[in-house]
Amino acid sequence: MIDHPLAQAILTTLRNRDTKQIEFRKGLVRLGRLMGYEIVKSMDIENVEVETPLGVKARGVRIRDLDHVVIIQVLRAAMPLVEGLVKIFANARMGVVSARRVEESHSPGSLDFDIEITYVKVPRILGDDTLIVADPMLATGSTITAVLKHVLKYGSPKRVIIASVIATKYGIERVLREYPFSEIYTVAIDPEINERGYIVPGLGDAGDRAFG
Ligand code: PRP
Repeated sequence: MIDHPLAQAILTTLRNRDTKQIEFRKGLVRLGRLMGYEIVKSMDIENVEVETPLGVKARGVRIRDLDHVVIIQVLRAAMPLVEGLVKIFANARMGVVSARRVEESHSPGSLDFDIEITYVKVPRILGDDTLIVADPMLATGSTITAVLKHVLKYGSPKRVIIASVIATKYGIERVLREYPFSEIYTVAIDPEINERGYIVPGLGDAGDRAFG
């Protein structure tokens, strides 16, 4: 969990029902950037030496994994989050998946949604890639598990990271049960999923609040 005070303050703004569309979207972009920093902290670093314009050697570091990142955005709420992530992983290859929870076939209170996936465009995933799947809300985990099933057909990455903003214990456990090797980054773990499958207290419908 990302407990950086700035991330928590931004999340508080996102939760506030009075936060309007532009500020909401900007908040998600900022969280994407912060999440990028957190992910980088978990990457291996190697020591290198460079020569400065003064002709003097300086010791420093290089993060090789920065250049081996594939980011998948789950439409549409992940778009601003990915905009932030890309500021950190500027060289990332990117893909999109359009996924929708089928509310029509959902029985109230059920923690399982049918997921309709209508578009998948994913680059080839290589063995030294870090795969980051971005979706701000991880409620029942139905969406992310369905998305991973499709995305992992494109190759086996070195790491699988789920970038979420609010998750639930149920959703996290489900993802880890089906994809034990995945790592979940989130800014909050909320206590409840309501009858309609919304995270409570949550922040409402992230897609609607970001894009209208
Ligand atoms: C929401 C949200 C996530 C998903 C999370 O999408 O954006 O993708 O639900 O819930 P889950 O973990 O229970 O699957 P929704 O299907 O409502 O579509 P939308 O983003 O287009 O609103």
